[in-house]
Amino acid sequence: MDDIIAIDGPAGSGKSTVAKLIAKKLSYSYIDTGAMYRALTFKAIRESIDLEDEDALVKLAKRTTIDIVSDKDGNLKVLLDSEDVTGLIRTPELTAKVFYAARTPGVRVEMVKIQRAIGARGKCVFEGRDITTVVFPESKYKFYLDADVKERAKRRHLELAVSGKKVSYEDTEKDVIERDNKDKTRKTAPLRRAEDAVYIDTTNMAINEVVDKIISRVKIILPGL
Ligand code: DC
Repeated sequence: MDDIIAIDGPAGSGKSTVAKLIAKKLSYSYIDTGAMYRALTFKAIRESIDLEDEDALVKLAKRTTIDIVSDKDGNLKVLLDSEDVTGLIRTPELTAKVFYAARTPGVRVEMVKIQRAIGARGKCVFEGRDITTVVFPESKYKFYLDADVKERAKRRHLELAVSGKKVSYEDTEKDVIERDNKDKTRKTAPLRRAEDAVYIDTTNMAINEVVDKIISRVKIILPGL
């Protein structure tokens, strides 16, 4: 577990941007685990599977291969049964439905298996909701990123605006609060801060400050880096 950096945190905490930059700086692979739950949900919708039917979702997960490959700049490709679905899994409609797969224990078992197999390739920066608590609790580099809910909603609103989606700030904030609730209160692998994870409040921090803070912690343990 010397070459796995594990980052968890709520939506809008900056973890994707930060994880991607760290991966680039260290020449590690960036692994966005939320993309896996998104890809599975995408397939479920395409196959008209009832998202409330946990058995059907688990069966689907068992007959699905998902892989994440990232290039040296941290740009990742999400492969669903070898099909590149990277550009198809970030719609607001899909975002609103991912929680069904994420709350299903049998689905999580399958996703964790895939994540550990990817981790075995070495040199990865993983980000998600249960990386520090369930997937790689034994990693030496565990971080929990957080930010004030208004700041997270502001970031998400900007992100949506940049990608051309017109949603009001109020609706975005409501959505962020609802997603927090779902992630933090589900029975299996809820989002929580691992006791031994370094807590970073990014509310008033620039992205590069967060990146430098994490890299300097990693270097304390891995001085040769
Ligand atoms: O980070 P994201 O918004 O792409 O995540 C999509 C969904 O997947 C979100 O509802 C949280 C969930 N998720 C999870 O339960 N466990 C993970 N390791 C990563 C994401």
